[in-house]
Amino acid sequence: MKPMRLFSPARSEKGRGALRRGVAPARCARASRQAAFAMCCLPGQRGAHFHPMNPGSNPNEPRRVRAAFIGPFAIMLAFIVGVFATAIFFVEERIREQDLAERGVAVAKLFAQKLEKESNLMRAVLHAVMSNAAMETAFVKGDRKALARHGGGLFEALRTEYRITHLYFTGPDLVNLYRLHSPGQFGDEINRMTMVRARDLEETVLGLELGPLGTLTLRLVAPWRRDAKVLGYLEIGEEIEHLIEEIGDSLSVDLAVLVEKRFLVLEQWQRGMTLMERQGDWNRFDTHVALAQTTPQLPAALDNRTLGTLLAGNTVGLQDLTRKLHVALLPLDDAGGRHIGELVVIRDITALESMFRWSMITVIALSLLAAGGVLGVFGVALARVERDYLRQHDLEHQLLRLNTEHHRILQLEKLSALGTMVGGIAHQLNNPLVGVVNMAELAQREAENPPRTHALLDDIRRAGKDCHAFLRRMLAFSKGSSFERMPTPMGPLIDETVLLFRQTESRHLPVEVSLPTAPVVLDVDPILIRHALFNLLLNAAQATPGNDAIVIALEHSGNVDNGAPGWCLSVTDHGTGIAAEAMDKLFVPFFTTRSDGTGLGLPVVQHVALLHDGHVDAANQPGGGARFVLWLPHNATD
Ligand SMILES: Nc1ncnc2c1ncn2[C@@H]1O[C@H](COP(=O)(O)OP(=O)(O)OP(=O)(O)O)[C@@H](O)[C@H]1O
Ligand SMILES: [Mg+2]
Repeated sequence: MKPMRLFSPARSEKGRGALRRGVAPARCARASRQAAFAMCCLPGQRGAHFHPMNPGSNPNEPRRVRAAFIGPFAIMLAFIVGVFATAIFFVEERIREQDLAERGVAVAKLFAQKLEKESNLMRAVLHAVMSNAAMETAFVKGDRKALARHGGGLFEALRTEYRITHLYFTGPDLVNLYRLHSPGQFGDEINRMTMVRARDLEETVLGLELGPLGTLTLRLVAPWRRDAKVLGYLEIGEEIEHLIEEIGDSLSVDLAVLVEKRFLVLEQWQRGMTLMERQGDWNRFDTHVALAQTTPQLPAALDNRTLGTLLAGNTVGLQDLTRKLHVALLPLDDAGGRHIGELVVIRDITALESMFRWSMITVIALSLLAAGGVLGVFGVALARVERDYLRQHDLEHQLLRLNTEHHRILQLEKLSALGTMVGGIAHQLNNPLVGVVNMAELAQREAENPPRTHALLDDIRRAGKDCHAFLRRMLAFSKGSSFERMPTPMGPLIDETVLLFRQTESRHLPVEVSLPTAPVVLDVDPILIRHALFNLLLNAAQATPGNDAIVIALEHSGNVDNGAPGWCLSVTDHGTGIAAEAMDKLFVPFFTTRSDGTGLGLPVVQHVALLHDGHVDAANQPGGGARFVLWLPHNATD
């Protein structure tokens, strides 16, 4: 049972949901919702009440996802790019160092190979000379002219073709017999390391020899034996300057031979320079002097300090005008195993450096580009996440506010409903009570007519029972029960209502009832339907100034909205019709155009209709008057 809803503050003409709210609370709710929305959405007020992008203004402030993640992510990316670039830098530098070191090793190898190749040629020459019987005879006899005659052509060919610069014939006592390269100089004792070792070891000795004039010569000394007897020594030599140039050309490096000054005598060195028509700077270095080099000038940056660094076993990078040079040293030992100086390997790494620099720039630029791209994509993704997050947070916040507003509005509605309910109860009790009073007065007047008095008392008793039932329902409602449907024959219900109406309405207006031929039984609450019909009849009477009849009709009819089957219970009058300004407010509680009206009759009718899943319509008649239709669905029938 839900009888109490009968008096709920129905205030909308159409729609069940709207009806349940009521106009005044609805306005209030709408206003409150607008206020709530404005509080949440208006820019001017958002800052004061709620602003998702303004941290600190609200303890429920959403976290700024992008700001929280993008910074650390950018730092992490920068760190990765930094590590990557540094790693690439070190790898490239390692490769470059390795390349330079390999170049130094290659120089050393090629130098050794060339010495080996040259020594093979020298061995072949010495072998050819020693195999020549005429030469041997001349050597044994000490015949210089014969040696010149037999060996002069050979030496000339060796000098021009193979750069052989020295060929000695030396006796077993190491006293020189003849020099094919310097015929006028003989009779001196040769005590160079190669010669002494050849004598001591009695075998062929090969090695570099630093001459007093500052020449570095590759010498091969072989004992000249006849049977087991050593006839003397044959020595062949060549200056190595051309070897250095060949190696430099082959490996694209510049080379220089630096010899320690302590192995040279300044005057002799100067004489040698003059003889060989060479330029040299004795004072360029403190400890060394350059004997040969593949470039006209040594790099200006190669000074004493740099040389010191190199001698300490390091490699050195030098800037020589526009060139970037890499310098390394290879030790130079003579035939006696003495460390006499250094072979300076100078590599022009300008192009290599430039390539290295560009590759670094490219790597860093590409890394930054990639990092920027990743950061951008991440930023966009985070922006989306943040936007969705903020939107959701905003919505949740608004929902929270609306919920609070809703509860407030519910409280207001409850208060309003209470007022409406009190008015409705008064209205519902007033009409039957007026009928009871009238019928009681009539019964007093008709006291002489017992049957009539009896009938009137019966009506009074029924009206009283209705009031009693109504109040009982009120009590039941307060305990949470609902309204009571039951199969109700509509014809008798209408007749009873008309009878009560006649007792109430003083002018005794004629009432015509039009019913289907077959009895109609609907599953309705008869008391509520009677109330509704009574209200419609009363309104019709109040709107009818003359004596025109009021017509009640019950017709089978589909729902105007969805065509669902049902019944129309209509009340038609020929009165003043509904005023234009009243048309929109007919079902608004407390709306009335009558001075003694409460404005609750039609809201009650509408509420009864809605309780039965029906509806009420009102319209003016073309010929004057109004027609109110209470539509009840077919499933309300038994
Ligand atoms: N049959 C009708 N013809 C013309 N106007 C009507 C008719 N029925 C209702 N109205 C208009 O609708 C208003 C509201 O009717 P409602 O029954 O709700 O209240 P009321 O009749 O004024 O007062 P109450 O019924 O509480 O005594 C009426 O004041 C009247 O202006
Ligand atoms: Mg009324």
